[in-house]
Amino acid sequence: MKLKHYLKFTDLKADEYVYLFEHAALIKKKFKAYEKHQPLTDRTLAMIFEKASTRTRVSFEAGMYQLGGSVVHLTTGDSQLGRAEPIEDSARVISRMVDLVMIRTYEQTKIERFAEYSRVPVINGLTNEYHPCQILADIFTYIEHRGSITGKTVAWVGDGNNMANTWLQAAELLGFTVHVSTPSGYEIDPAVAGVKSSCYKVFKDPMQASAGADLVTTDVWTSMGYEAENEARKKAFTDWCVDAEMMRAAKSDALFMHCLPAHRGEEVEAEVIDGPQSVVWDEAENRLHVQKALMEYLLLGRL
Ligand code: CP
Ligand code: NVA
Repeated sequence: MKLKHYLKFTDLKADEYVYLFEHAALIKKKFKAYEKHQPLTDRTLAMIFEKASTRTRVSFEAGMYQLGGSVVHLTTGDSQLGRAEPIEDSARVISRMVDLVMIRTYEQTKIERFAEYSRVPVINGLTNEYHPCQILADIFTYIEHRGSITGKTVAWVGDGNNMANTWLQAAELLGFTVHVSTPSGYEIDPAVAGVKSSCYKVFKDPMQASAGADLVTTDVWTSMGYEAENEARKKAFTDWCVDAEMMRAAKSDALFMHCLPAHRGEEVEAEVIDGPQSVVWDEAENRLHVQKALMEYLLLGRL
């Protein structure tokens, strides 16, 4: 099989997403029925974390074991990655010993360099620029609750960050629109997302971005790696909090999503994230199912 990486959402085509969402649904059904699904017996996944994680770590690790494989967990602090071994050398060595690599790191260029020297598929478990596995889970969750996302409107309220960039890429590929509202100074950079302007609209006022939306979604005010800006961001983002009024501006059956971890009282009010329109727990669980489908697809193709 031709080597395939998943470094950004656009690394797969629309028809591959159709397959992945169908296959993830089957994997989820089998998981719920305690039915074994082990196409990756004897395969090994290396997970490299240069930033903290709960969901990504648990979903990839549990997912790989459930598929019949095993996992090696590396961090900067307990490997030579933290002692300046060149990324190209790490990639050459690690990819001779395992079948698949998942990396959470800072710059996208780092994961791209790793992939260039890797003999095995590399998956982006979050970089400063993108978080494709999360959007994979988010769209799967939308489809589960509301059907196709094509033609729908997603309101992005908050930072022009890795999640926002990936939503834009998904919108262009799968045919929906993102209404983006960010505080000034924290705008999206369409060059980073690499999309044409037809898939998104920018609004100064987050209420206007939410108006008529099918899905309202947000993320932390300060992403990992930007902690030094925390105080400035707290001031700039005060009005970018998803509250009940903002949800009322959206469609009456609009969903609320958040990739988590969340800060109640900052980017979202408790009554929204813990309220009836919120699907955040399904969204988190679905990381497991979609990533199992993804790992299987990258190693074995369509079954
Ligand atoms: N949403 C997400 O990626 O969560 P973690 O940072 O806990 O992995
Ligand atoms: N934008 C957040 C997402 C965390 C899952 C971050 O990069 O920290």
